[in-house]
Amino acid sequence: MSDNKHRVTRRQFLNYTLTGVGGFMAAGMLMPMLRFAFDPILKDEAGTEMVAVADVKEITTEPKRFDFKVKVKDAWYESEEPKSAWVYKTDKGEIIALSPICKHLGCTVDWNTDKEHPNQFFCPCHYGRYEKDGTNVPGTPPQAPLDRYEYKVKDGKLYLGKAKPRKEA
Ligand code: FES
Repeated sequence: MSDNKHRVTRRQFLNYTLTGVGGFMAAGMLMPMLRFAFDPILKDEAGTEMVAVADVKEITTEPKRFDFKVKVKDAWYESEEPKSAWVYKTDKGEIIALSPICKHLGCTVDWNTDKEHPNQFFCPCHYGRYEKDGTNVPGTPPQAPLDRYEYKVKDGKLYLGKAKPRKEA
């Protein structure tokens, strides 16, 4: 008698089955759409993760250029962007990692290539100059110091993050 109470009719069985299968299919269709719509909004800002660039042993007191790549996400498109940094160690052992992008109009600066002004960063486009620490030399076109990369050292490797602007000279 109690068996009859818990019996599921054919109609109920069909209802449960169709609701379950329908719900499962709807979820399968909706999830990718929701993910497509919200995923980029919920993720971190592009290019914020730190990238291994060099062995710390390679870093000396003379600025050296290191090239590396960072993953960039532009909404739903992922790519790798080439980057460079001028890296050196101060006498106190502090690591300085400078962006090579000139703050005047965006050319690439080089270290110690202007014979008249040795031991400076030099931008050949409009003769912009920067001191070793990236400070722009007054009277030359750049109006701000070179950006500095955030960095960390882990297991003997130098990792660089974002290049951030500094105060103007
Ligand atoms: S772009 Fe570097 S000085 Fe103009």
